[in-house]
Amino acid sequence: MPNLLRSLCGLCVCVTSLTLTGCSKEPPPPAKPVSLGSSAPIESTDPPAKTDDSATPAKVVETNSTVSAEVLLGSPEFTAGIPGDGALTAEQIQAWLENPENHAPLEIVLPMGLMAGSKQVQGIADNLMTRAKIELGRQLYFDTRLSADNTISCASCHDPAEGFAKHTQFGVGIKGQMGGRNSPVSYNRIVSGAQFWDGRAASLEAQAVGPIANPIEMGNTHEKAVETVANIAGYEMQFRVIFGDEGVTIDNIGRAIATFERAIVTGPAPYDYYEAVRPFLVMKPDDLASLKDDDAELYAKYEAAKAAADAHPMSTSAIRGRDLFFAERGGCTACHVGANLADEKFHNIGVGMDTEKPDLGRFEISKEEKDKGAFKTPTIRNVALSAPYMHDGSQKTLEEVVEHYNKGGVPNSHLSTKIKKLDLKPEEKADLVEFMKACTGEFPKIEQSRLPE
Ligand code: HEC
Ligand code: HEC
Repeated sequence: MPNLLRSLCGLCVCVTSLTLTGCSKEPPPPAKPVSLGSSAPIESTDPPAKTDDSATPAKVVETNSTVSAEVLLGSPEFTAGIPGDGALTAEQIQAWLENPENHAPLEIVLPMGLMAGSKQVQGIADNLMTRAKIELGRQLYFDTRLSADNTISCASCHDPAEGFAKHTQFGVGIKGQMGGRNSPVSYNRIVSGAQFWDGRAASLEAQAVGPIANPIEMGNTHEKAVETVANIAGYEMQFRVIFGDEGVTIDNIGRAIATFERAIVTGPAPYDYYEAVRPFLVMKPDDLASLKDDDAELYAKYEAAKAAADAHPMSTSAIRGRDLFFAERGGCTACHVGANLADEKFHNIGVGMDTEKPDLGRFEISKEEKDKGAFKTPTIRNVALSAPYMHDGSQKTLEEVVEHYNKGGVPNSHLSTKIKKLDLKPEEKADLVEFMKACTGEFPKIEQSRLPE
């Protein structure tokens, strides 16, 4: 029994931590830290820029031999910005860039909960994470100067104060223009591959440069955005040191923003603390009691897991909701599954299919009949913070979402076979909502206003 339990309880070892930062000491299996190897170069975006041979060579900080020790992604240090107050001065940026530690490729560990998705981590082998690149991406993410009229930044539609999404039905871009889709969340992207509701961007890098030139989002051109950024001394300096001779290019802007987005990971929720203690709670009381004598170490882990779960409690309603969510009857984990509670696949659950001209979603990209009306499964983590819901922002509350599933979605010829009428009792609907609320975890603290002057 103890052996079985040990394997079930991979997450227990770090539940003693009540904050994000406590898990770094002992990362448990199955979450292998994402190793980048010690010979990883700072960046290799060859071929080198050939445009201006006469330019003085950029000074790339040498960090080939230094790979940082394992770091816990989501810790405030990565997104707190360059130390100080007010606009970032050239001197502050220079001092920051001169510290080799800021260029060492990070060997990252994901926070408890999301950690189970370490094998899903995407993109960092091709675009190494460093503190300097995260920081540069942070600045760009919050900088309205990337838009045509200086009014819109990524954060306008993916706002930390609105669950990294926006409480409007559709994204609102420059001059108040609106598209037909709801702004999805921009956190936990590190465990996600194809981006957008229809997955049309193959990577975060590819996604990040899209909004800049989208006429109804940031309304700019890539050329103008590059020019603007290159004319801001503080940015120019950072690009030159981080990316070498290439300096400011649209692809490097994408790389920096994508790196920042990968650093936005959300920490343990009551749901995660409960999952960690659950294997013990479902044991027979006798077995749990004998564990104390048979395996003191494991029993100590149980006690730690229990203390952490008690400090971040799930209500009994949320626990019932969890069981329903995972059970065949609720059927939610047919799609909302894995560390980020999202299968990264596309499904037609019927949303908008009863309108005159339905958005066909994934079909527009794949042209495969089966993809008509299919959209990418969104995460359930922190979902309570990012209303309204669905690709068209048509559902205002989690109660409305549950009602959608309860009635079996909206019938249409491409409806997923996994969507069926649930006939839930009122208290079961409430339990599902409570469970989803208990998936709200900790967010990294992010500096929003310090940008290059
Ligand atoms: C005007 C509002 C708006 C702005 C500005 C904007 N976005 Fe978005 N974003 C959206 C909408 C709407 C979607 C969904 C579009 C779709 O799927 O077709 C989206 C999708 C995304 C996604 C995909 C998430 C997923 O789950 O697939 C990411 C990541 C993202 N945006 C990041 C950014 C970044 C980075 C910037 C700045 C460069 C940015 N956005 C600027 C509204 C906006
Ligand atoms: C067949 C796969 C599938 C099943 C089963 C499923 N979902 Fe979904 N879920 C999706 C997809 C796909 C979307 C987005 C659909 C869209 O926008 O058109 C979604 C959207 C959501 C959203 C909105 C999230 C957001 O950010 O907009 C919530 C909440 C949600 N589902 C909860 C649940 C619950 C609760 C269950 C079980 C009762 C469930 N889902 C079952 C695939 C599924």
